[in-house]
Amino acid sequence: MSKLVIEGGTKLKGKVNISGFKNAALPIISAALLSNEECIIENVPLIQDINVLKDILIKIGAEVQIVDDNSLLIDSSQVKTCYLENGLSKKIRGSYYLLGAALGRFKEVLIPLPGGCDIGVRPIDQHIKGFEALGAEVIIDHGMVHAKAKELIGSKIYLDVVSVGATINIMLAAVYAKGRTIIENAAKEPHIVDTANFLNTMGANIKGAGTDIIRIDGVDKLKGCTYSVIPDQIEAGTYMIAAAATKGDIIIDNIIPKHLEPVTAKLKEMGMGIEEYGDSLRVFYQNKLIPANIKTLPYPGFPTDLQQPMTVLLSTITGKSQVIESIWENRFRYVDELVNMGANIEVKGREADIQGVEKLEGTIVKVTDLRAGAALIVAGLIADGLTELEDIYHIDRGYEYIENKFMNLGAKIKRVKN
Ligand code: EPU
Repeated sequence: MSKLVIEGGTKLKGKVNISGFKNAALPIISAALLSNEECIIENVPLIQDINVLKDILIKIGAEVQIVDDNSLLIDSSQVKTCYLENGLSKKIRGSYYLLGAALGRFKEVLIPLPGGCDIGVRPIDQHIKGFEALGAEVIIDHGMVHAKAKELIGSKIYLDVVSVGATINIMLAAVYAKGRTIIENAAKEPHIVDTANFLNTMGANIKGAGTDIIRIDGVDKLKGCTYSVIPDQIEAGTYMIAAAATKGDIIIDNIIPKHLEPVTAKLKEMGMGIEEYGDSLRVFYQNKLIPANIKTLPYPGFPTDLQQPMTVLLSTITGKSQVIESIWENRFRYVDELVNMGANIEVKGREADIQGVEKLEGTIVKVTDLRAGAALIVAGLIADGLTELEDIYHIDRGYEYIENKFMNLGAKIKRVKN
């Protein structure tokens, strides 16, 4: 077990190169299962969640190789079924994309309910509603999901909640369905568009991704292709927020600035300087920042995955701020650790009321989930003295080379083996 040790107090300076987006790479890698030709997927972050998905694909018979630094070659021509036991697929949330992809290709799949961060109940009823509407029978028994269909037939599906996972999973299952599938009240996140673009490059016929109505016309065959995953807007947003918290001045490179608009708008409102240059942003501190109110919402609202680092930033801004978490009911668990560091935050259900304090104090903190880990790194960067982060395996699930990237920006952070 390793821990991260951070000595706070350095203003971040320099340039950080953003990796490919975990939450786009997971469905895209799963989607490669829909073709029996080779796919090369570039700009894949080499993080734990991707390693787990890679191992799962190998287990069911796919050939998966890392070619070049961040590219995966996937050949699933030899995969005949997708039956998994408890184990690997419980380690990540993204394994649920095998449901849609394998149901689409083999018309049957049996896998355990997915794992992932403990941030709320995380039901998959909307995924199931979609599969059933396409003609599948879905049974959940002893923690296993079994979906089976004689054939899949296009249908109109209205999602009761805006769900990233359900939108993508239904797209994956519907690409081979007969006729037209329409998903209404679809999620609009950039990774939905990225997955649809990948599928279309393979020969699918998907229109409307990025709006709340997606239309999928079934095709008979998907071919192999080469495709590059979009940059990780959550990783980028984490560095933007860290720049603000440390009163720094950094360039965030290899991004799509449009995907960061909700974060850019909020940081500007608080007084940060932000300049856009094609595929990069300069984020720089100018004057004392002012408090803000945040409500997490589906894209293009403020992302729930940046709620935690944002709360850390607000915790040291003089005045009152409020954060409302409307996506996950259990995403304030890290606040106890922040309070131990001296923050003044009161959590009532899905709402955190923050009274900005002058400074945080370094101490030993436990990481409770992936984004809580990123948030506690930001807290360590601005705290007086040393902060030690334990249980950092959560962070390694989703952030590539995190301590190296922060070190390159001047942070005093190191990984220490316990
Ligand atoms: N929901 C349902 N029923 C469903 C599906 C979702 O009620 O069948 C509810 C959820 O309980 C939640 C809301 O709908 O309240 C949104 O859930 P969504 O399905 O959009 O989330 P997800 O697909 O499980 C993905 C990301 C999360 C990110 C959310 C929201 C992956 C692997 N996970 O989860 O990322 O927070 O979308 O943007 O893509 C992270 O990266 O740290 C992370 C947690």
